[in-house]
Amino acid sequence: MKRVVVAIVLVLLGCGRSTPSPTTPTTPPVSEPDPLRTAAAAAGKLVGTAVQSSLLNDQRYAAVFARHFNYVTAEYEMKWDPIEKVRGSEDFSGGDAVAAYAAARGMQIKGHALVWHQAVPSWVAALPAAELRTVFEQHIKSVASHYRGRVLAWDVVNEAIDDNGFVLRNSIFRQKLGDRYIADAFRFAREADPQARLIYNDYSSEGLGGKADAVYELVKGLVAQGVPIDGVGLQMHVRAGGPPIEADVAANVRRLGALGLRVNISEMDVRIGDIGGATPANLERQKALYRSLVGVCIAEPACDAVTFWGFTDAHSWIHNQFGPDAPLLFDAQYAPKPAFAGVLDALLRR
Ligand code: XIL
Repeated sequence: MKRVVVAIVLVLLGCGRSTPSPTTPTTPPVSEPDPLRTAAAAAGKLVGTAVQSSLLNDQRYAAVFARHFNYVTAEYEMKWDPIEKVRGSEDFSGGDAVAAYAAARGMQIKGHALVWHQAVPSWVAALPAAELRTVFEQHIKSVASHYRGRVLAWDVVNEAIDDNGFVLRNSIFRQKLGDRYIADAFRFAREADPQARLIYNDYSSEGLGGKADAVYELVKGLVAQGVPIDGVGLQMHVRAGGPPIEADVAANVRRLGALGLRVNISEMDVRIGDIGGATPANLERQKALYRSLVGVCIAEPACDAVTFWGFTDAHSWIHNQFGPDAPLLFDAQYAPKPAFAGVLDALLRR
C-alpha cells in the first residue's frame, strides 16, 4: 500500500516521466568532443586548419571544421597558380569561398602564400627577368589588396631556404630577381595591406639545426634591414620516427621571439607510416607528439597560433606526397583520434 502511494506521488510530481522536460539540459552525445577553439581561446591562441573550398559542401567535413577551429588557411586556393592560371585574369573564387565561410563563423583567416617556388603558373616561369620583376610586384599587390581587411596574416614568402647547404633556394625568383626578391616581397605586401601580419614560412626548421639556423639568420637580417616582417611560421610536418626535439623547438621559438617576431606552427601533421602505421601503440605515440609540440606553442608567449594541415585522415596531402598514412586529428570517418585528445590536453595545459 505504501509503495503504491509513493508511486502515485512520484507520478504526480513528474518524476516518473521518461522524456526530459524542455528545460532539461541535453548532454552532447559521447562522440562530440569539446571544441578545440574554446580551449585555444582560453589559452589566448588561435587554432587553425587548412581547408579546401570544395569540401565545405560535405556536411561532416564542414561540421567538424566549424566546431573546432577559429583560424583557417586555404590549402591551395590562394596560391598564384590557382588565382592566375591565365595571365591577366585573376580568379579568386576558391579563396573567396574559404574566406566567406570562415568570416561568417567568426574565424580569422591566414593568407597562404604570396611567393612560393611551387604552384607558380607556367607562363610566369617563362618570363624574362625584367618582365618577371613587374609581374611579381603586381601579383603580390593585387592578391594582398584583394584580401585586405579580411586576413589577419599572410605567408608572404614560403620555403626560400634550400635543404642542401641551407642557402637560398635557387628558384626562378632568386635566379631572375636576385636575393632581394624576399625583402621586396615583404615591402610590396605591406604597401598593399598595412594591417596584415607578414610572415616567413618554412619546413624542417622547427627545432635547432642547420636549416633552423638559416631561417633564423634570414629573418634576423630582414629585421635588421627594416624589412616589414612580423612573424615566422614553422610548418611542423613531422615524422613520428624522427620528430623535432621539444626543447629545441621551444628554444627556437624563443630566439625568434627575441627578434620581436611572432611565431606560429603553420602546417602541422604527424606521419606514422614510417613507424608501421595506425596501430594502437603508434596512435599513442602520435598523440604524445601532438601534445608535446602543440604544448610548446601554448607555453611560449611568442607563439600565437597552431594550424594543422587538414583535420581528417580522409583528406591529407600526405597520402599523395609520402604514401598512405594517418597523420591528422580525426580518422577518415571523422571520429576523433588519440591525437585529438593530445592536442586538447596541450591547449588545456594538462
Ligand atoms: C600542399 C597542399 O597540401 C597540396 O594540396 C597542394 O597540392 C600542394 O601544396 N608546404 C606548404 C603547403 O607550404 O602549401 C603545401 O601544401 C605543403 C607543403
